[in-house]
This record gives sequence, C-alpha cells and structure tokens, in this order.
Amino acid sequence: MLSVVPRPVLVRAPAKVNLHLAVGDLRPDGYHELTTVFQALSLCDEVELVPAKALTIKVRGEGARDVPTDRRNLVWKAATRLAHKVGRDPLVEIVIDKGIPVAGGMAGGSADAAATLVGLNALWHLDLTRDELADIASELGSDVPFSLHGGSALGTGRGEKLLPVLSRNTFHWVLALAKGGLSTPEVYRELDRLRGQGQPPRIGDAQKLMQSLAAGDSAQLAALLGNDLQAAALSLKPELRRTLRAGINAGALAGIVSGSGPTCAFLCESADAAIEVSTELSGAGVCRSVRVAAGPVGGAKVIDLESIG
Ligand code: C5P
Repeated sequence: MLSVVPRPVLVRAPAKVNLHLAVGDLRPDGYHELTTVFQALSLCDEVELVPAKALTIKVRGEGARDVPTDRRNLVWKAATRLAHKVGRDPLVEIVIDKGIPVAGGMAGGSADAAATLVGLNALWHLDLTRDELADIASELGSDVPFSLHGGSALGTGRGEKLLPVLSRNTFHWVLALAKGGLSTPEVYRELDRLRGQGQPPRIGDAQKLMQSLAAGDSAQLAALLGNDLQAAALSLKPELRRTLRAGINAGALAGIVSGSGPTCAFLCESADAAIEVSTELSGAGVCRSVRVAAGPVGGAKVIDLESIG
C-alpha cells in the first residue's frame, strides 16, 4: 500500500519592539490599559507543523531549555483552542526554532502562538480569514494579534486592539540580549509598586512618534521612543543601565528597554551604523549577545518550502 508522507508547513513569525509603551491603570481583570506603538523586527522564530498521532512540542535554538513543551506553552493553547473551534483533535507535532530571545520582552512566545494559528490554518486547509485568526489570537495573549499583524501598529486595550500605522523607510536596530529573562507580570507589578511610592514620570501621547514613523525619520523617532515599563525593568535588573549607556556610547541614536525587558533595543542611523554599534557593544561585556535587526517586517507567514529547497 502506498503511504503518503504528510508535507510539513513552515511559518516564520517576527519579534516586536514597542516604540511607545504607555501603561495606564490596572484594570479589574488584572491587565493594564495600554497605548502602544509596535514595530515588527526581522529577528524571527520559525515554527514547523506536521501531522502526528498526538500534540507534541519541540523547541530548538538559543534558550530552548527554558521553554516548556507542555500545556504551559502558548503554542499548546493556540493549537488546542483552534482545534476546538473547528471541531477536530490537535494531532500535530510543532517544532519551534528560537531566534527571538526567550523571556526577553520581544514577544517570542506570542510569535510562536501566531505562527501556530497561521500554520494550522494552512495544514488543515481551514481557510479562516485573518480577522478570524486575530479573534483567537486575542484570547491567547495581549501581543499575539500583533505577531499575526506585523508591520507597525497602534495597540490599545491590553495591547490587542490594533490599528495599522503608516511607516516609511526601514529602521535599523541593534538588540542587546541580557543574561536571564524577566517575567512580564513581575515587571507590571514592579511598575505598580513604584507608582504606589510616587510616580515614575509617565510618557506622553504617541502622536509625534507616529508622525516621525510616517516621515521615516530615524533621528526624530529616536528622540521620541518611550516605555513606561523601563523604570520597572531597570529596578528589577539595575545592570541594564550600563547596557543602555554602552549602546549610546557605541553610537546608537537612542536605546530603550524592549517591552517588559530585559532585551535593550538601540535605534541606529543606518544598516552600516547598526553593524558598527553591534560590534562595539559585543566587545563592551554588558550583555549576553548582540543581534542586528530591521523593521518593520510582515507578520506570521507560511514560507514556501520549495522556494528554499
Ligand atoms: O496577555 P499576556 O498573557 O501576554 O500578559 C502577561 C501578563 O502581563 C498578564 O498576566 C499581566 O500580568 C501583564 N499584562 C498587563 N497588562 C497588559 C498586558 C499584560 O498587566 N496590558
């Protein structure tokens, strides 16, 4: 009897940086009201999906040992939630290749969940629309809709309500990956604690920053980057101050803690400048490793396996 070997589906999903992250009040549901501007970066995870006898998750790449492979993984929830919605069993093996730092404030787990939704939609020939996938994404986590969407977007609510933002040009980044991660809920709790003791200054609105994106002006954008979670991340990991200083000394236009951290993101003038900053930062001994990335890039997308041989 001829047995047909199932073809795997491969999906690539981007990391994000919050160019503007204004954290409002704690809501009764335990989330904070946000106004944020996301940009998707060329640093990516790859997720491969293939039919199997049971749902299994494997994780490869840097930091893989710190990623759970059971129901605590957002990918597990994405697969079971989608399978339930369409009335089938999640019989699939999912292999995650990490390029995005684990617990780094760059939405790596959300990228994998978004990739799983897109991948299963293709693997199971579901023909769900992007809006239908976005509805499931917002049930999974605050950043998952943006990982699907990609590009540049304004996020409100807990970050899950998205509006596209006009962005001209490509922006060039250097990312300083920290030793160890930070837990997002802990960083939010630390911000609440700091605010209870007297306010760390809050960032303003995002209007000017969105104008600088539309103009494609990196110097202007650099001056407007802001993150309310930065004070909390620095309070939990004071050594990040040195990392931020070192990036500026290395020639970056500006540096910011990415999301809840501890990754630090440095905006640079050009692709060449980013390479120079990354080389100098690598030698400064202030972080675990350094990556160069560009943005905005698209959201989670199936890669044609034949086109890559
Ligand atoms: O939505 P997600 O599961 O990624 O959020 C992780 C945690 O981060 C939440 O449980 C909450 O503690 C915190 N959070 C928040 N306000 C947001 C988003 C996340 O307090 N808007």
